Amino acid sequence: MIYLDNSATTQPHPEVLKSFEQVSTTFFANPSSIHQLGGETEKLLIKSKQQAAMLLNVHEDEIIFTSGGTEGNNIAIKGIALEHQGRGKHIITTEIEHPSVYEGCKSLETLGFEVTYLPVNQDGVVSVEDVEKAIRKDTILISIMHVNNELGSIQPIREIGEISKKNPKLFFHVDNVQGLGKVPLSLDDTGIDLCTMSGHKIHGLKGTGLLYCRRGVKLFPLFHGGEQEFKIRSGTENLAGAVSLVKALRLIKEREDTEAVELRKLSQYLREGLKKIDKVVVNTPRNAAPHIINFSIPGLKPEVMIHTLGKQGIFISTKSACSSKDLDESRIIKACGYNQSRTKSALRVSLSYDNTEEEIKTFLNKIVEAINQLKEVME
Ligand SMILES: Cc1ncc(COP(=O)(O)O)c(C=O)c1O
Repeated sequence: MIYLDNSATTQPHPEVLKSFEQVSTTFFANPSSIHQLGGETEKLLIKSKQQAAMLLNVHEDEIIFTSGGTEGNNIAIKGIALEHQGRGKHIITTEIEHPSVYEGCKSLETLGFEVTYLPVNQDGVVSVEDVEKAIRKDTILISIMHVNNELGSIQPIREIGEISKKNPKLFFHVDNVQGLGKVPLSLDDTGIDLCTMSGHKIHGLKGTGLLYCRRGVKLFPLFHGGEQEFKIRSGTENLAGAVSLVKALRLIKEREDTEAVELRKLSQYLREGLKKIDKVVVNTPRNAAPHIINFSIPGLKPEVMIHTLGKQGIFISTKSACSSKDLDESRIIKACGYNQSRTKSALRVSLSYDNTEEEIKTFLNKIVEAINQLKEVME
């Protein structure tokens, strides 16, 4: 098997699975229970929060454990909107956000919020100037992703953070689900108030994630109940999930430190290989994240290629089904200004630190073979 769909999800690391099993077996008590077992469980929860905070260089009371990226994004965006609507009802985001942000913002429009969806250039990057110009007196939130999930384009988060700092009345949320462990992003003095991360994209488990929420930032909770997680996310804590997430976070940070150069080399090898193939056009810009390469084969339905490669044990993907109104078309590639021949034939390869040059070589050979085979069905 050659697995090249790591932006959809990653294979859990064996150590992550081990820690989940160990904690589930030994520390199964409810951290809210006042008996000894509950107390021990609570201690471990606090410890895992401290470790997450240390790895991210933030404070432990700034970590909210969640079930993943979708939940983190919704807690952040709706939490800010509902809590601070008295001050204003304007939100700024981009046209290329993940549906958990994009549709979240659309849902707020039905509640009377006004949302500005900023365009991107052909490289899939928003203009800092546009962000600054879009700010109004009633703007309460800017929500912009770090790394785009379909294209791999990197947004100028540091610069937008500086703008946000100059406007202390608004909050700045960053969806860092795809950037985590691949493209460094400091939460320290960068103007970021909220930052979403997800476990299953970094060899952690599905149903795990965390939201960084800067001290003093108030959110309206989406769930009411037992007041866990600083009253922001009520519900019995998934301790085994939290511990396993911290393990995944530690492991991916180590790999980011030691294997970034190798991953970048692999990415370049893949890019150069794709560019040499007749009928392939690369959509991902050169200065993008090292793990995502998006390309189109105009005239070919992406599903056909995915199934042809899948039969040979090679797994890649297309844009997520929920990311465009027109089911055939990528909303993200469209936002970059490409025409339908490209937006309707986009494919994504997404790497992990585990992929090898040998795998990429095989993939490139197989894609050439597949194009030759499928020539007759190309429009
Ligand atoms: C950029 C981005 N944000 C959010 C999410 C949602 O994360 P989760 O699957 O953990 O809910 C994804 C998942 O693909 C993503 O790529």
